[in-house]
Amino acid sequence: MKKNIGNKFVLYPTPVIVVGAMVDGKPTWTLVAHIGIPSHDMAMVSLAKAHYINRGVKENKALSINIVDESWLPEADAMGCISGNKADKSAAFSYTVGETGAPMIDRCKLTMECTVEDIYEVGAFENFMVKVKNTFADEDILTESGDKPDFDKFKPVLFEMLGYTYLKTGETLGKCMSFAKK
Ligand SMILES: Cc1cc2nc3c(=O)[nH]c(=O)nc-3n(C[C@H](O)[C@H](O)[C@H](O)COP(=O)(O)O)c2cc1C
Repeated sequence: MKKNIGNKFVLYPTPVIVVGAMVDGKPTWTLVAHIGIPSHDMAMVSLAKAHYINRGVKENKALSINIVDESWLPEADAMGCISGNKADKSAAFSYTVGETGAPMIDRCKLTMECTVEDIYEVGAFENFMVKVKNTFADEDILTESGDKPDFDKFKPVLFEMLGYTYLKTGETLGKCMSFAKK
């Protein structure tokens, strides 16, 4: 028997990322789990309007998406516990500035630098529609062909809201569109 548990929002788990942007010429970092895929080369990053990082994202029209794995989860988690409105987070990571002007975390194994194409306001949130300009990956997380991440080697940390927990990514089940044939 199914139980109606109300209008609970259960569209999780989602990958968790650290967004990077420059504010007043210095990098700042914010932990974000509410991200989306509105088209094949665009992403959506949902940031509460009150966050410190938003001003930099809007002024520079650029941000980085640093995908979190377990190797730096404590440092990533810290970026969700403190606001740049209260403390300077610029020294949290060593970083490299990409062609978009967005700072990217050196220790992150999979990073996209993006330009901001549009902003949709929904309630207390600014939803940044971003286009991926460059994707940087550690060579040791790539497939043998060397042109895409191997998610048996790279394990993004996932987030779920109701339990407010982080989860591990699982194993490969098989190729998409191969199951229908079985
Ligand atoms: C697990 C986790 C996920 C979060 N996801 C989001 C999110 O998707 N969008 C958002 O606006 N804030 C999110 N936050 C909250 C911000 O990371 C947090 O308020 C941060 O301190 C804001 O930093 P800033 O003011 O320096 O930008 C999340 C926090 C945690 C711990």
